[in-house]
Amino acid sequence: MWAKLADGARRLVEQAAGARGERDAARPPAVTPLARVVSVASGKGGTGKSILSTNLACQLARAGERVVLIDCDTGWANDHLLLGLQPSYDLGHVAGGQATVLQSLVPGPGGLRLLSGGVGRARDAEPTWRDLDRLFHALVQLETSFDVVIVDHGAGLGLAAQALIAAGSALVIVTGTEVTALSDGYAAYKRAVALAPAVRAGLVVNKVASPQVGREAWERFSFVSQRFLERKPELLALVPDDRAVVESVEKRLPVVLSAPTSPAAQAIAEVARWEPFRVAAPAVGGQGVFERSRRALR
Ligand SMILES: Nc1ncnc2c1ncn2[C@@H]1O[C@H](COP(=O)(O)OP(=O)(O)OP(=O)(O)O)[C@@H](O)[C@H]1O
Ligand SMILES: [Mg+2]
Repeated sequence: MWAKLADGARRLVEQAAGARGERDAARPPAVTPLARVVSVASGKGGTGKSILSTNLACQLARAGERVVLIDCDTGWANDHLLLGLQPSYDLGHVAGGQATVLQSLVPGPGGLRLLSGGVGRARDAEPTWRDLDRLFHALVQLETSFDVVIVDHGAGLGLAAQALIAAGSALVIVTGTEVTALSDGYAAYKRAVALAPAVRAGLVVNKVASPQVGREAWERFSFVSQRFLERKPELLALVPDDRAVVESVEKRLPVVLSAPTSPAAQAIAEVARWEPFRVAAPAVGGQGVFERSRRALR
């Protein structure tokens, strides 16, 4: 499957080069910008992807962007809990054709829209490429109706994350400072680079006990990446281990709303200023990330 995805990614890169050539030959092609699609992933579980994703979605929505947060931790979704929402439909219903994407969006804090993942249904926990093909086909609609789509993935790079990365989604990797989280985070980055050598990737070091511990973790990550992959992600933020985050979970409200001046909220607000959240990547041959993800899967 992985070789197939890498092939799909290669085809997309060639297609992109072709599209660039055509653009240069006949400019300016006035096209409606498509939504910016950013994946949030990690190696190890529990590093803080869902906290970061829900807060980024809320922060960007408050700034006036039309934001959809997709909880792609299918079968184990919990973004709705962090946001205090009770969705009637989720990705499983969308993939199965029981609900449309627009029907499944739930309005949440700051004006964000949530597309929840399912909880507890065995089938959702391991979507096949056929399920994903149907799902991505349905999600294409979001790219013309919204400015930003944030995809919160489960731990490790599953099929959905790999297809999105191969299709050119920007990637935020969330790691802790402990050696296991760093090692798994590096493995996720390495896989992403193999799928899409030009991937735009940023690193968030989360639950940092002190700025020095955070800096050391970043230095280790970037040293190993540079040495073995001859590239490194961009450092997006060192997010402190902050009691305000734990309290925000209890309140079911993102920390950027419940405690906007807390150190964690300030660091997350910095991440929301990363360019891929603000500037759309050009559509390749008129196609957005979700359509290209379908092609990468084939
Ligand atoms: N900056 C922080 N400061 C303090 N606690 C934090 C911070 N970030 C996350 N946490 C804690 O870590 C817990 C796990 O975070 P989260 O659910 O976002 O991880 P995850 O990476 O999405 O996990 P999974 O891999 O299971 O999806 C949160 O419930 C919260 O209590
Ligand atoms: Mg999560």
